[in-house]
Amino acid sequence: MTLTDRRNRPLQGLRISVTDRCNFRCNYCMPEDVFGTDYRFLARDELLTFEEITRLASLLVERGVRRIRITGGEPLVRRNLDRLVGMLAALPGLQDLSLTTNGSLLPGQAAALAAAGLRRVTVSLDSLDEGVFRSMNGGGAGVADVLRGIEAAVSAGLLPVKVNAVVRRDVNDHTVVDLVRHFRGTGTIVRFIEYMDVGNSNGWSLEEVVPAAEILARISAVFPLEPLEPDHTGEVARRWRLCDGSAEIGVITSVSNPFCASCSRLRLSPEGSLYTCLFAGKGFDLRGLLRQGADDAALGQALDSVWRDRDDQYSRIRSAATTRLPRVEMSHIGG
Ligand code: GTP
Ligand code: 5AD
Ligand code: SF4
Ligand code: SF4
Repeated sequence: MTLTDRRNRPLQGLRISVTDRCNFRCNYCMPEDVFGTDYRFLARDELLTFEEITRLASLLVERGVRRIRITGGEPLVRRNLDRLVGMLAALPGLQDLSLTTNGSLLPGQAAALAAAGLRRVTVSLDSLDEGVFRSMNGGGAGVADVLRGIEAAVSAGLLPVKVNAVVRRDVNDHTVVDLVRHFRGTGTIVRFIEYMDVGNSNGWSLEEVVPAAEILARISAVFPLEPLEPDHTGEVARRWRLCDGSAEIGVITSVSNPFCASCSRLRLSPEGSLYTCLFAGKGFDLRGLLRQGADDAALGQALDSVWRDRDDQYSRIRSAATTRLPRVEMSHIGG
């Protein structure tokens, strides 16, 4: 029997954040003045172990999850991540196992991740302009570092590689066409993300959002575009292709055209809270249950009731009032 929530949405995807730490300080995600040297990150014993994560993932796969994405913070700063990848890849019934990363640590890890069973990666890269990129990521790395990571992923067969670019008005919106031009003909799919009001620390304002229609207009003025059908139900990105067949691109329209009606994802935080929405203020504590010795039946019952009670549609009802509510940070829940 399919598990559905209050809005009749099935459970299909799981995003697992394995750490709240990151070696970058993107100003729209972990601004340096908030995530500085005195910021209290989770301690090691607060994090779920790989065994605990896999146990929960296995119960969720039994409940309909078909796609798992590993996120962070930056997931590749968690030690021995390839071991977790191997454990998740072995879950029967899972159709897709992917990871979202800033790319900087891929050169040293891509081959081991692929060997462990990771299928593909998505790499964040907001601009190919060195000054623009560094100003957005807090000086974490240069464009060349991330491009090396993308090359390592391609060489390891983590395909198709996708590139995520968060677009902010008057920051990097003038560089979107360069990204399309650069990756055209390589098989890498660039997706442009509308800047979202995730968390409470990035000082988001609507004026900084560049609606997807505007991004697409900029691109199609240089490279004419045609729409593509969704790859799977509940897909977040709207797909387009260059009419000359040289590339696929995508736009993620969480602000201008929300996709809550088909949202089928759960999010597990590094310390074992289950979130039913990217914009939720609070998760359901599973670590407590796990460490009290709950059996699979008790855990399963908790998972069922979290999904059945789910009513979230934050982006669809976004307003001046909702953007003031307390929300989990992006670096904690992983997008
Ligand atoms: P694919 O399976 O490759 O299509 O991946 P994806 O688009 O789910 O993953 P990715 O981590 O690359 O997410 C891209 C962007 O979409 C990120 O900025 C996410 O925060 C955002 N995103 C993903 N899922 C949701 C969602 O359910 N709601 C909202 N508002 N944004 C989402
Ligand atoms: N709005 C939109 N996308 C964001 N990301 C991080 N913070 C935001 C935000 N405020 C992106 C990252 C990464 C993905 C998981 O989410 O760049 O590619
Ligand atoms: Fe790190 Fe990604 Fe957040 Fe940038 S967007 S600070 S790379 S977790
Ligand atoms: Fe899903 Fe919440 Fe995003 Fe809507 S805002 S698509 S309910 S995660």
